[in-house]
Parts: sequence; structure tokens; C-alpha cells
Amino acid sequence: MIRGAANTLWESVRNIATVQGSAVSWVPMESDRHILERLEGRLGPVHARQRLGIEQEKDQQVFGGGMNFFHPENWYSTHSLIRYVLQLSGLYRRGRRNALDIRVRRNSVVLPGLPPAFDGFTLLHMSDLHADMYPQATAALAETVAGLDYDACVITGDYRAQTCGPIDRSMQEMAGLCTQLRQPIYAVLGNHDSIRMLPHLEEMGIRVLLNEQVAIEREGAAIHLAGVDDAHFYRVDNLEKAAEGIPADAVSILLSHTPEIYRQAAHAGFDLMLCGHTHGGQICLPGGIPLTLDAKCPRYMGRGAWRYHRMQGYTSAGAGTCIVSVRINCPPEVTLHTLRRADQGKACQ
Ligand SMILES: [Fe+2]
Repeated sequence: MIRGAANTLWESVRNIATVQGSAVSWVPMESDRHILERLEGRLGPVHARQRLGIEQEKDQQVFGGGMNFFHPENWYSTHSLIRYVLQLSGLYRRGRRNALDIRVRRNSVVLPGLPPAFDGFTLLHMSDLHADMYPQATAALAETVAGLDYDACVITGDYRAQTCGPIDRSMQEMAGLCTQLRQPIYAVLGNHDSIRMLPHLEEMGIRVLLNEQVAIEREGAAIHLAGVDDAHFYRVDNLEKAAEGIPADAVSILLSHTPEIYRQAAHAGFDLMLCGHTHGGQICLPGGIPLTLDAKCPRYMGRGAWRYHRMQGYTSAGAGTCIVSVRINCPPEVTLHTLRRADQGKACQ
């Protein structure tokens, strides 16, 4: 039965490739069949077909598709122009140095209803690694996280520098980084990521949450960690599916690559949303004012801690770089989120 469904998926992806002709950058080969079979078994036929189909069809799309109209990350001809302008203005070398200076930020999250066993529970949050963009920065990241103390690690997507093409180098860099991380590790995929990364990341011991949730248990109590697939470009996030099985009174944390689904997440009842995607602007004016966030969300959600109704959120400025491997007025970061129990008396007021 599964074999038959996988055949159908494989054939449908091959058909898309044939219809698109030379515009498609990746045509599935016979050797991809086992990945497709695994994806179909893991995600179900609809999600797997959607993700692979959109990946084929929308590779390198600069305008249209996704949450916003313009996708600068897909406009490769501008990347060298930006680099050239930075070189002319004398900012390039400084920006490259800044990209290696990864900060460890600390964020305390007070959560009503947090079980006592989770008071002090700490999540290491990394985002937007773009691990193959600037190998020295990925090495600096590995060095930074090696000495940190935390209970679980979460990664909110973007492992590859480009938005299409080979995944090998990014996966090699990720495998190296993983040797410096403590288990358990949970992650989601971003708009730079291919669904073909899934088996590789899971072989590294990373549990990728694709519209799924897990219970993290401690001393007989549990909190729930959910993750959605990319909502920015692929728009294959499914909050309803991700929240399935989370008890109404349980503390729930959502991993999403982008903050753009803040409204849906808040009304779905999540207590905390951890995300990235914006890079905090990456190249900012003095004072950290971003030129662009490449996201359809309020500016205050562009970096750091925020709140929307009862849901708390945190947008990581990201650990890596994309488009150009520089950071200006916006240092790269990893974040340690420590969960704290709300004063029960105050929470009832
Ligand atoms: Fe990113």
C-alpha cells in the first residue's frame, strides 16, 4: 500500500519536472526514489507532494508566491552588487568580522501554568544558520554553543545559504555542528531549506517537527513543543495538525521559521512562539534599525522578545548570514530561553 502511494508521489514529482522542462533546477532521479518513499511515509502523501511540488515549481522565484511579494534571497544577481557596494564603502571587512562575533542572549519567559518540574528549564535557540554560507562563522557558532548549559536545543530553520540547489555542503556543516550540541535537538525547516534535508537532519539526531508536536516530560509532568513547516515561502504550515493532541491546559511552545503566522499561532492557543527568518535585518542602520525584515509582520516582531495578546514570542536575529556574509549593526546570536513559573497568585488576578 505504502509502496504504491510512494510510486504515485514519485510519478507526480517526475511529471512536474517534465512539464516545467528546463526551468526546473532539480529533476528527481531514480536515486531520489528512496527519499520520496521516506518522505511520503513520514509526512503523508499530501504534505510530501505539496512540498516537493512547490520546491520544483518555485525554485528561484523572486516575485510572487509566499507571504510577501518580493523575495530578495532568491535574486542572486543582486548579491554581488550588494557585496561590491559594501566593499566600496569600506564596510565589507568589518561586516565579515562582525559575522563571527556571535552573541549569547538570555531571555526569561514567565509562563502561567508551567509545571514546577520545568521551572528553570532552558532552551538553546538557534536560527538561520545558513551553515554553508561562511564556514568560519559556522565554526565560530560551534565554538560558541559547545560551552553552553541547556536542557534542549531548538533550531528554527534555514540551514542552506541558497534557496535552491545542492544540499550537501550545508548538511556536512550541520553534521559538524551537531557534534557540539546536546540532545535532545528539535528543529523546523525554513524558506531556504529543501525537504530532501529531512532524512539527513534526522540521521544527525535532530527531530524535525513538520506540523507535528512532541511532549517533553519531566518528573511526571509535560510541556508540548510543536513545529510547523515553512510558512514564509512554501506556505505548507499547518497549525491545526501541529497542535493536535496538545491538551488545552498544557504549556505549549511553537517553533516556526517565520514570525509571520503570529496571529494564527496566538489564536491557536500557543503560549510561546520561537522563530527567526528576519535576521534582525542583518544590515542595519546605527541603533540596529533594519533596512528590511523580509517578513509581513509588525516591526516590533523583527528581533528579540515580543507579545501578541496572550502569546509571548521571540524572534532570533539569527546565527548566520545570507545574501552577503556580513553583519552591520546587528550581531548574530544564539539565545538561551529560561522558562519560569508565573506567580500563581498574580496569574489569577
Ligand atoms: Fe535566514
